[in-house]
Amino acid sequence: MIHSQPQPPLRARGLTKSFGAVRAVNGVDLDLAPGEALGFLGPNGAGKSTVLSILMGLRPADTGEVALFGHAPDSAAARALFGATPQSAGFPEQITPRELLVYAAAHHRAPRPAGDLAEAFGLGRLIDRHMAGFSGGEVRRVALALAFVGNPRLVFLDEPTTGLDTAAQEGFQQVARDYVRQGGALVLTSHHWDEIEAVCDRLTMIDRGEPVLDGTIDAIRARTRVNRVTFALPDGRHPPAWLAAGATTPGHWQAESADSDALIRRMVADGVPFTALAVRPLDLKDIITRIRNEARP
Ligand SMILES: Nc1ncnc2c1ncn2[C@@H]1O[C@H](COP(=O)(O)OP(=O)(O)OP(=O)(O)O)[C@@H](O)[C@H]1O
Ligand SMILES: [Mg+2]
Repeated sequence: MIHSQPQPPLRARGLTKSFGAVRAVNGVDLDLAPGEALGFLGPNGAGKSTVLSILMGLRPADTGEVALFGHAPDSAAARALFGATPQSAGFPEQITPRELLVYAAAHHRAPRPAGDLAEAFGLGRLIDRHMAGFSGGEVRRVALALAFVGNPRLVFLDEPTTGLDTAAQEGFQQVARDYVRQGGALVLTSHHWDEIEAVCDRLTMIDRGEPVLDGTIDAIRARTRVNRVTFALPDGRHPPAWLAAGATTPGHWQAESADSDALIRRMVADGVPFTALAVRPLDLKDIITRIRNEARP
């Protein structure tokens, strides 16, 4: 007897898309399981928003296939299961967030109440105000709340926290983590590395439309076990050459080492007059830069 497997939230194969002579997307594959959060990264113009628009069924790929829970992305069946925050969203000025949320909720079988969403996204005192005059961050919060209105099992968030203040960013990260813990699947595009690390367990990076890196954040971190050692020296003093340290700001230096304990012992043995010594692992951003530099011919 054949048991049918539950269909994954997202499966995309061999996506390509050109705009005239520009190859915006070239051979992108993506997979996502329930309860998984994927960071989707790449420099400006890499093709992230174009890929997301294809995944959401907003524009067709030139070649390749997309299935959301086994359904075509522009089908009613798929649309009932996913939510999205696009990179830029405009709303009519005479409408209130509550009216928008209630309108969007009407398209879903088990929507989240507007009050619940208002609390989660810090819209409390804005919920019944006309959106004319909303600040950039306030509009962004409404766009984020809309992604979650239908109790989705998959969300696509394209730079959702651009322009949000620190408190709103942290609020978003909490909502995203809770959503994933409860089995939701999430694709997050962001240029904030802290946010990717706080929310995602995997990442896929594209550059000029092509995949350049893919894996769990733990596995990517494990590829480079290097610590960064920073310290200060008195004015006019230079670190010994063996440290291969570089200046960051006047009087402040940094060195990198796979064995920072041994490095510090030698600094002490050599009588290096350091103060303000600090040791920390390389940032994810630095690790990825290294991996990519090593991969370049
Ligand atoms: N409708 C369009 N017509 C022509 N070119 C387009 C169109 N949409 C996107 N492009 C081009 O495709 C490339 C990818 O754009 P895309 O918006 O997907 O990048 P992105 O990775 O989302 O960048 P960002 O980080 O700046 O948001 C860019 O070179 C862009 O100029
Ligand atoms: Mg974009």
